[in-house]
Amino acid sequence: MKTPFLLRRLREAGYEVRALASERALAFTTETALAVAAGGPVATEARWFAPEGGALHLELARWADLLVVAPATAAGLARAAAGLAEDLLTATILGGARKVLWAPAMNPEMWHHPATQANVQRLREWGHAFVGPEHGALAAVGEGEGLGRMSEPETIVEHVRYHLSPKDLAGRTVLVSAGPTREYIDPVRFISNPSSGKMGYAVAEAARDRGARVVLVSGPTALPEPWGMEVVRVERAEEMYEALLERFPAADAVVMAAAVADWQPDSTASEKTPKKSGKNVLELVSTPDILAELGRRKTHQVLVGFAMETRAGHERARAKLERKNLDFICLNFPTRAASAFGGDFNEVEMLFPDGTVESTGRVTKREVADRILDHVCDRLRTKEAERHAQ
Ligand code: C5P
Repeated sequence: MKTPFLLRRLREAGYEVRALASERALAFTTETALAVAAGGPVATEARWFAPEGGALHLELARWADLLVVAPATAAGLARAAAGLAEDLLTATILGGARKVLWAPAMNPEMWHHPATQANVQRLREWGHAFVGPEHGALAAVGEGEGLGRMSEPETIVEHVRYHLSPKDLAGRTVLVSAGPTREYIDPVRFISNPSSGKMGYAVAEAARDRGARVVLVSGPTALPEPWGMEVVRVERAEEMYEALLERFPAADAVVMAAAVADWQPDSTASEKTPKKSGKNVLELVSTPDILAELGRRKTHQVLVGFAMETRAGHERARAKLERKNLDFICLNFPTRAASAFGGDFNEVEMLFPDGTVESTGRVTKREVADRILDHVCDRLRTKEAERHAQ
């Protein structure tokens, strides 16, 4: 039963969660397991009507921004599509739940049955959302594999984020760079850095969730391919330069989170260089400063850079903000535990041209991403208002 994990993941993602368990659910898991995972009491049929007369289905429907049904059975979908309100879950749905997200789990035969598909279609028409089912090992003994497995909790959390995000970037194109670059010495050796790409991917995903058309230009990373955006894979700084410059005119905002290598070998050997003992000298030249070039070409775009400094952070970041013609810059502190390379948390200070500084404190990279995008939205609106006033 993945539901307690899902509850925990939702809380880790910062959501306030309440669990509702049907009679069937309590045959698969316990009320205590759900209460511990949700961090509070579980709504059950047994406590539907409070002694004081309150009706739980109405209270829950009004309380929740999103009702996630995981796992959703064929019977649950059928009852909801029929508009029934005979159990706590369907009564909560009918009682005015603002948005419902179903994560179906059932046998492929039941999923593909015209009755289930018609119910899904009907619920979609009413504005309900779905995640999964997916292809994989099925829960019931001896059933093997098929289309009917509930999506993983992480995937469901991603969909929850999508549905709960404001769509304040709808109609905008956001270009994001992420990850390290590789500057090849020969076909099998390169200069790079430990960037995981997580910060840039978090910005791209948050922008997608907020309704933007997103183009992610990514150096090599181990991260799964994000859905709902164009992903352009590059390796060298020069390839990243080409990819970004080509897409820059059509962009409304650019968040340059990539850790672009500062140097590249003066020349790349076409064959592997034989090992030589003793001292070797490698001639390096600067890579193109992509962000500085975007700053020169900037017309209407909001341009955001990153700076990672081990010393004199504010001073250096402020100099980059000006030199690269940015709208603001996000200063990272690689030597602070909170913002080490590769982690899920970060702490950035956003420096603005008017001298103000805003710190995110130590939060998830996703939260950092949303804070950055809040300011991108503000800048987009301000710039638009300025253009109209001219
Ligand atoms: O000058 P510095 O490398 O510290 O600036 C960091 C910012 O500039 C980051 O946003 C990074 O993505 C970008 N950058 C770039 N091209 C380079 C080096 C850095 O766009 N060659």
